[in-house]
Parts: sequence; C-alpha cells; structure tokens
Amino acid sequence: MTKRKLIAGNWKMNGDLASNDALVRALIAGIAGMSGSTCEVAVCVPAPYLAQLQMLRAGSRLELGAQDVSAHASGAYTGEVSAAMLKEFGARYAIVGHSERRLYHGETDALVADKAKAALAAGITPIVCVGETLAERETGKTEDVVKRQMAAVIHTNGHCISEIVVAYEPVWAIGTGKTATPEQAQQVHALLRAQLKAATEHCDRIHILYGGSMNAANAATLLAQPDVDGGLVGGASLKAPDFLQIIAAAL
Ligand code: 13P
Repeated sequence: MTKRKLIAGNWKMNGDLASNDALVRALIAGIAGMSGSTCEVAVCVPAPYLAQLQMLRAGSRLELGAQDVSAHASGAYTGEVSAAMLKEFGARYAIVGHSERRLYHGETDALVADKAKAALAAGITPIVCVGETLAERETGKTEDVVKRQMAAVIHTNGHCISEIVVAYEPVWAIGTGKTATPEQAQQVHALLRAQLKAATEHCDRIHILYGGSMNAANAATLLAQPDVDGGLVGGASLKAPDFLQIIAAAL
C-alpha cells in the first residue's frame, strides 16, 4: 500500500486557548523539522477552538478536524453544528460515531451513517469509528459488531464510501492503557478492508486507522501492520513530544 499514513489526534473535551497555542506551535515546529515525505497529520478539536487553530495552522501541514457533526444541514437543531459551519472554520475532517458518542449520546448505526453523509456533502472527510466492547469481544461478537456498524455507513453512502476514513477503535482499549495487539488490530482491519472492497473498487484509497491507547512506545508495531493506515490518538495527542513520536513512527 503506497498511500501516506494518517495520524489524527482526538483531543476529546480537553484544551484551552493557552494550552492549545503551546501544543499546536510545538506540533507545527516538530513536523516542519521532520525530513522527507511525512505522513498526513490532523488534530480533531472541540468545535469552539477551530477558529483559534485555523489561524495558528495557516501555512503548515497540520490539518484540522471536528469531533462530531450534525446529520442535518441547517435548521431547528439546538446545540448542533453543521458540516458547512465546520468547513468555514477550516475543518477537513470530522470524527463520526466515536464510541463515546454512541455510548453517552445514544448514537445509532443509522445516525452515524447519516452524519457521515452530511460531512461528505459539505466536503468534509468523516472519520467513521467502529469497534466492539469488551463483553462483545469476550463473547465472540467482534466481527459481527464491526461489520454491522460498517454496513450501515456503506449502505447510506453508496459510491461515496471511498471518500471516508475508517477508525477501528476497540472500546475496551480506549483510555484504558490496554492496546489491541498488532495481530488483533490487523485481523479486524483486514476484515473491514474486505468489506469495503466488496462495496467499492476504490477501496485501496481508504485509510483504516487504529485507535485505542496508541502511544509513542506501541505505535511503530501497530503501524507496521499491512492494513493499519494510521492512528486515531486520544491521550497521547495532548502531549507534543508523544504525538510527534507517533508521527515519526508513521513516516
Ligand atoms: P486513547 O488514545 O486515549 O485511548 O483514546 C483513543 C480514542 O478514543 C481516539 O478517538
């Protein structure tokens, strides 16, 4: 696979004006200092900070993303933020269907699929998250769960499916320090790749990221797997030296 890897940070609900400024300046300087062709890098930030970061990132290779997007284009949806609004503030990506949204906000497979569609319609690349819980893994349901989650997005988005990014994030690995082994990750990534291949002839251009306690120490072996095209990084993306080491591991 020749495409460049994609390393995306998910800041979750963290940050403030001062710490964002320091973090992003350190990232931009660190990335600029890396030689040769590097991977693609993005940070997915709380929506209010897109304006701040749009200014800070100007002229750099650091891309911006949001952590959620409305399934609707506009109208009476109090509290929601549309894809067009995110786009106006420089977002290139939007995470959709993160397990924290599915769990705490009751997001269904169908809603996640609609959100991906709304993002694509506005020219934003959705980073679609799928992943099983510990109970699902322990009862042998991993394959069924991720395939079901993926199928909804494929069904709703038709041929546009080749424009999405997928993130496999086993729920039991998120924020727990328990990482999937490279073999566990590769197994699910290969499964997702096969499912996408059946849906589009352009499947090879789709990045399938791994997320769940990726850090400076384990990134290289995860990223060396043939179907791991990058990472979606939570906690370690909040510390510039750690995130830069992960980026360096993806070169
Ligand atoms: P951690 O890297 O903190 O486990 O979070 C992963 C994640 O949820 C990224 O979206």
